Amino acid sequence: MTGKIIGTGSYIPDTRWDNNVLAGMMDTSDEWIRERTGIVSRHIADKSTVSEMACEAAKKALEDAHESDDTFSADDIDVIIVCTLASDVLLPAVSCLVAEKIGASKAFCYDLNAACSGFLFAYNTCVSYMNSGLVKNALIIGAEKLSDQVDWSDRGTAILFGDGAGAAIVKATDGNAHMVMHSDGSRYDALTLLTGKKMYMDGQKVFRFALKSVPEVIEELLLGADMKKSDVDMYVLHQANKRIIEGVAKRLGEDMEKFPMNLSEYGNTSSASIPILLDELKRGGAIRSGMNIVMAGFGAGLSWGAATITV
Ligand code: ACO
Repeated sequence: MTGKIIGTGSYIPDTRWDNNVLAGMMDTSDEWIRERTGIVSRHIADKSTVSEMACEAAKKALEDAHESDDTFSADDIDVIIVCTLASDVLLPAVSCLVAEKIGASKAFCYDLNAACSGFLFAYNTCVSYMNSGLVKNALIIGAEKLSDQVDWSDRGTAILFGDGAGAAIVKATDGNAHMVMHSDGSRYDALTLLTGKKMYMDGQKVFRFALKSVPEVIEELLLGADMKKSDVDMYVLHQANKRIIEGVAKRLGEDMEKFPMNLSEYGNTSSASIPILLDELKRGGAIRSGMNIVMAGFGAGLSWGAATITV
């Protein structure tokens, strides 16, 4: 059994801050941010919360799933997992609120925090449930309001992040699931958000970790799946930094055309970045049924992983 993505949705807040807005707030420039990160703008959830964005993305994913299969409804969803590193709602889980808003009364619900690896970990978790026979359909969501969590005077960190939410409906389908997940708590202090504090990041440490671990975990995945790199049509990576994605492509010896990116518009939206990108690719027709897609996430923990996904 594997998990086929049958519906996607996303929510992007209207307020858009380009790099020049940040240059008015701290000692930075559009040129520096573009050159070092590839980021041009980020969207700021000044009027919405994490839970509201999660609900909006979920509604759209459900509509999308219903469009491709008009018998599919919220009642078919067996589990809802919301990935977030800091929500406006701590109790109960945001996923319970999503279930209520979309009418998924049969789903069991919980939230998952694996930072920027969250969506990848949630996908692997729901596919594992599918293989155990526990669930047939899952709704997984990444939703983040990082503008509340960064220190807007810390130019080394604040310039990277943005807000938004993305969601996917995953259906159990015949096929083999391939997944790899890792964490290394000995490096937990590279990227932290302690209660009552703002986000702290050792940018270079995280950069070096990503450049080494992401190609390695993709190689590990392909080896386990008995796949060659030439079998992969597309790599959907966590959208952290253009230089990281280019470095991963180079180390894998793969063409940059296989690595779609949207971080120039949204910045790093942590667990929301992969589902927002999947939604854009699916709606834009870049993802077609039968393609071999590799998804990879990496972030605080440190945590990282990869999976083959079916669309
Ligand atoms: N504008 C202008 N100058 C800056 C800025 C800025 N926004 N930020 C740092 N600088 C300066 C530094 O002070 C330093 O100046 P100095 O040489 O006079 O001391 C110089 O630029 C170089 O700083 P570095 O930190 O070496 O810059 P680097 O090239 O490493 O880029 C960056 C920093 C963009 C943060 C990079 O390290 C990076 O992308 N790291 C990965 C971060 C990441 O992806 N984190 C998310 C992981 S996912 C998750 O779980 C959230």
